[in-house]
Amino acid sequence: MREYDIAVIKGDGIGPEIVREAVKVLEAAGNKFGFKLNLTDIFLGGASIDKYGVPLTDETVAVAKKSDAVLMGSIGGDARTSPWYKLEPSKRPEAGLLAIRKALGLFANLRPAWLYDELKDACPLKKEAADKGFDLLIMRELTGGLYFGTHKTEQAGGIDIATDILTYSEPEIRRIAVKAFDIAGKRRHKVTLIDKANVLASSRLWRKVTGEVAKNYPDVEYSWMLVDNCAMQLVRDPSQFDVVLTENMFGDILSDEASMITGSIGMLPSASLNETRFGLYEPSHGSAPDIAGLDIANPLATILSAAMLLRYSLDEDEAADAVEAAVKQVLKDGYRTGDIYTTGTTKVGTRKMGDLVAERVSLRA
Ligand code: IPM
Ligand code: MG
Repeated sequence: MREYDIAVIKGDGIGPEIVREAVKVLEAAGNKFGFKLNLTDIFLGGASIDKYGVPLTDETVAVAKKSDAVLMGSIGGDARTSPWYKLEPSKRPEAGLLAIRKALGLFANLRPAWLYDELKDACPLKKEAADKGFDLLIMRELTGGLYFGTHKTEQAGGIDIATDILTYSEPEIRRIAVKAFDIAGKRRHKVTLIDKANVLASSRLWRKVTGEVAKNYPDVEYSWMLVDNCAMQLVRDPSQFDVVLTENMFGDILSDEASMITGSIGMLPSASLNETRFGLYEPSHGSAPDIAGLDIANPLATILSAAMLLRYSLDEDEAADAVEAAVKQVLKDGYRTGDIYTTGTTKVGTRKMGDLVAERVSLRA
């Protein structure tokens, strides 16, 4: 029997509940398709601060590195009330997330956003745009740029001055550009580079390097767009995009916007990959501490992240297809968590939603 080692980060807030459901679905897929998962819990973010006093330990990195993949819930708490946010910035939950991405070399962050037919009513776009539908993939550079530059606050002449440095090197850009074009070749053959080349030197380097990479992919249509225009185009006509390639901060912002236009941020998975098959898989949404433990969180983004894990890290494509089809079927059958509920559908909780998906994976012909 095929066996895989999966490290599991339950995370904070709703993390443990949504990860529990994703594990349930992964196990159903294993039973159905003949593989076994060896799961090891590791800690990151707030849960790690509570246990070890720091948001990331060497132990967590070591176990993750030995695994075939990492499945993760969301991390972080309510910055207004949680004691984690009394700590200095480098000791807070989010610092652990940035540090594990760096430690595992996860430079390519894939954030798909598509509109399910079943959820068209929840789409906040104009009807013309929603009717056209969309299916895009944001490829966000994840271990460079502004989030990883020096951050400092100093005083000069009694005035506070804060500085954050944005740096990209040619190899950092090239490796993710290559991945973007490779993936576009398996999708609709289109890459749009998003930058701010009218202002930023780093963006001009992105344009130069990506343009060079594009020459090796004559069958992929390549263009670029300024980030402010992209923010607008995403709400005007998202169907124009296939693979959206961009740097770290723009990707952070645009991926939240892209998830919003699907009707619910609770539906969108993500994968963070390095040069090998290894990856870390997490929902695109946050830890929603306000609804933690209430059995109302939508586990589908985490379940779909588990499907990406099956596809990209384990090569279990059939199982991945089955999980994605099961999610679609559950929606077709009219089940919704509160965030995507509309009149006439059946409202279910987190656990029930996981059961419904797992059931359909097991029953798949
Ligand atoms: C995300 C999050 C993180 C990021 C934060 C929590 C540091 O917003 O995964 O998009 O910006 O990378
Ligand atoms: Mg973000």
